[in-house]
Amino acid sequence: MLRTLCLALLFASTAAAAADAPAVPPPQRIAVKAAHWIDAEAGRMRGAVVVVIEGDRIKEVREDGQAPADAKLVDLGGATLLPGLIDVHTHLTSDPTEIKGDYYESVLKRSAIDSAILAHLYAKRTLDAGFTTVRNVGADDYVDVALRNAIDRGDIPGPRMLVSGPAIGATGGHADDTTGYSPWIEFHGVNGVADGVDAVRLKVRENVKNGADVIKFMASAGVLSAETSVGAPQYTQEEMNALVDEAHRWGKKVAAHAHGAEAIKMAIRAGVDSVEHCSMIDAEGLKLAKQRGTWLDFDVYNDDYILAEYAKKGFPASTVEKEKLVGRLQRENFRRAVQAGEKMAFATDAGVYPHGWNGKQFAKMVEWGMTPMQAIQAATWNAADLLGWRDRVGAIKPGLYADLVAVDGDPLQDVSVLEHVGFVMKGGAVDKDALR
Ligand code: ARG
Repeated sequence: MLRTLCLALLFASTAAAAADAPAVPPPQRIAVKAAHWIDAEAGRMRGAVVVVIEGDRIKEVREDGQAPADAKLVDLGGATLLPGLIDVHTHLTSDPTEIKGDYYESVLKRSAIDSAILAHLYAKRTLDAGFTTVRNVGADDYVDVALRNAIDRGDIPGPRMLVSGPAIGATGGHADDTTGYSPWIEFHGVNGVADGVDAVRLKVRENVKNGADVIKFMASAGVLSAETSVGAPQYTQEEMNALVDEAHRWGKKVAAHAHGAEAIKMAIRAGVDSVEHCSMIDAEGLKLAKQRGTWLDFDVYNDDYILAEYAKKGFPASTVEKEKLVGRLQRENFRRAVQAGEKMAFATDAGVYPHGWNGKQFAKMVEWGMTPMQAIQAATWNAADLLGWRDRVGAIKPGLYADLVAVDGDPLQDVSVLEHVGFVMKGGAVDKDALR
């Protein structure tokens, strides 16, 4: 009896609550209007458009120029609208402006806490430059995981991030920041140094456990590290095979840093999803990448900045010399890769040059063989494919996140207009509105 009464009361109060409750407000609708838009999926520039946004997603792409009456209108006038840009190779947890003539500063005088304190600045600069999604490939101490989480929670502004945690690499190699220091100095913190198949598998698992979306490893030597070679392989084929096998079993893609021709081929044979830098890739490497569908990510802007600034920053002369070995060759090979029709994504290694300058690479990519539309697709629809995120970013398309940018001028005539993105929206929220 009592039970029946309680139930009756419960129903009565639920019904009353429903009657009293204010009507659920319709989802907020925004209509972004522009004179031109880039259909990144089709690779076409199109005319007038109204993009209707509901919540954080694109609801409709209207080419009749009509904005729905109930939507808040954002009229960008004569601007060109593009999907939010994507950079698949960044390091948001450091910036070269931190190094002011003292090369040893970052290793000897700063900790992960210093990085964590500044990283939000770089995230905001990146977003303001129109990059609404980045893949962050290499950050010690999981500062990248914390940054991604803070952005995802809405605590701080920044691009959508896929992060790798510490890049995995051999003792004394490109992932081992403490090479060249006295063996008496003890360094703390979490890095990705691991040797042997069991250890690299363990590192992959640790990174996954601690929040990595993607696995980054160093297949070869590098420029901004202390080893003498710039391109020699730093893992055996067995180590690379084990690492990729382990990452894939956990459902994570793998990005391999590799400058040297041999290391590039070893990484491709191991089954990596993308090769980063690709500086000395040879004809066989290009062929292998094509066969396997491996993405080639050339950071072709970097050379300008390193040669102009790194000696002044106090980097050793050997670093600048190493850059000279790869810089020009990398651009020539970028051209070959474009001609060969390779899968290529926009990847800049931001953090080697100052954050927010990402757009400068578009002009380099066009100078070295891409059409402006190819460069734009590399930073949108194609980058989204590499990330496995075509269901959320990379195009102006119903169902995807409302990540939009706009520029004055025609990027197909002059791709450098993408260095001055005037309007940025991420997930339906306006981050920057400086066009009008
Ligand atoms: N992080 C890379 C390395 O240290 C930067 C290479 C930059 N140079 C270039 N030409 N892309 O190896």
